[in-house]
Amino acid sequence: MDSNLHVAIIMDGNGRWAEERGWPRTRGHRAGAEAVRRTVEASPRLGIGTLTLYAFSSDNWRRPAPEVATLMALFRNFLKAEAGACRREGVRLSVIGRRDRLPSALVTAIEQAEAATAGGGLLDLRLAVDYSSRDAIAGAAALHQGTTPSREQFRQLLARSQHGDPRTPDVDLLIRTGREQRLSDFLLWECAYAELLFSAVLWPDFTGEHLREAVEAFGRRNRRFGAVPAPTLAAPAGRQASAP
Ligand code: FPP
Repeated sequence: MDSNLHVAIIMDGNGRWAEERGWPRTRGHRAGAEAVRRTVEASPRLGIGTLTLYAFSSDNWRRPAPEVATLMALFRNFLKAEAGACRREGVRLSVIGRRDRLPSALVTAIEQAEAATAGGGLLDLRLAVDYSSRDAIAGAAALHQGTTPSREQFRQLLARSQHGDPRTPDVDLLIRTGREQRLSDFLLWECAYAELLFSAVLWPDFTGEHLREAVEAFGRRNRRFGAVPAPTLAAPAGRQASAP
């Protein structure tokens, strides 16, 4: 098993999970925070080295103010409650996206959690908050001057434009829960060769077992990055394995 996978997750379905039970949507977000904890805990033993979770998109500001306020409070509580455990377990916590529109108490919690966990080497846990991939790409373009940058140069600019780390590898596996099948402005550049997996499970029901199944399904995919498959050792001399 690959021991350094980058898995990104669009955690969709909190609202429907709550509405199906006749509960307010915010209760779904609270249950979603528990699913985040389960997922983080399960990741290292599945060979995941980087986990990027889409917590709040730049378009989510269009939601009702009370729902936005609940989410901001949840993120802050999560960072404050989990930073100590992350530090002990070797989880490096960071947040990508814009910070200038976030409540100042949340920005403080982000900075404290990032500082406290900076030395973690077991898992790189990234939360995307006020994140838009198109804005990040436009921001990276604005940082660049002169001739067309190489892919590697642009990757570094992109990291700078979103509070990211230039060492973060491209996404290997993108999971979206909640029955929808779209990318919703998430990691568009970084997912160039990601395998996509869409799950019908609503995010609050997502467990470590679902994550294990997703990583196993990823392991059965044939990744070619635009090339043809290598000839198999079993092919008779002089014959190449045929491309599908
Ligand atoms: C999408 O479901 C989910 C969000 C916009 C918020 C994600 C937040 C969490 C999982 C809560 C906790 C996160 C952390 C990092 C502590 P939706 O509300 O769009 O669901 P719906 O499509 O069913 O309406």
